[in-house]
Amino acid sequence: MKKHLIILLILILLNVNFISPALAADTVNGTQIFSVHCAGCHINGSNIIRRGKNLKMKALKKNNMDSIEAIASIVTNGKNNMSAYKDRLTEQQIQDVAAYVLEQAEKDWR
Ligand code: HEC
Repeated sequence: MKKHLIILLILILLNVNFISPALAADTVNGTQIFSVHCAGCHINGSNIIRRGKNLKMKALKKNNMDSIEAIASIVTNGKNNMSAYKDRLTEQQIQDVAAYVLEQAEKDWR
């Protein structure tokens, strides 16, 4: 019984180690995804459709969008005039582009 628990624990630990590098957001990849899928409306962190809903830190904070989770959620499901990307991007790509947006916002898109 105890042996089984130890093996289970080892498997869980191994699993975590295998999974985490893949899930870690890759902002280089995010740069490319952004230029293909987002820059059309959000060039340099702007918003050409709804100016107030831009990707600068001030707006992200005001609209509760200043986290990878919140950005990933709007990208996945869309909102009003922004379409959903869940059929076009993988979960990993959405994580990457969300991390990129947040990183750029922290650097004020410079
Ligand atoms: C067709 C134009 C368009 C494209 C392409 C687009 N967006 Fe948007 N985006 C919008 C609009 C419009 C809103 C405002 C939605 C609302 O709240 O009504 C928005 C809002 C956002 C917000 C919230 C900003 C805030 O201050 O509240 C984020 C984050 C965002 N978009 C990220 C992305 C990312 C990342 C992509 C690419 C995967 C993308 N958008 C592609 C039009 C677009």
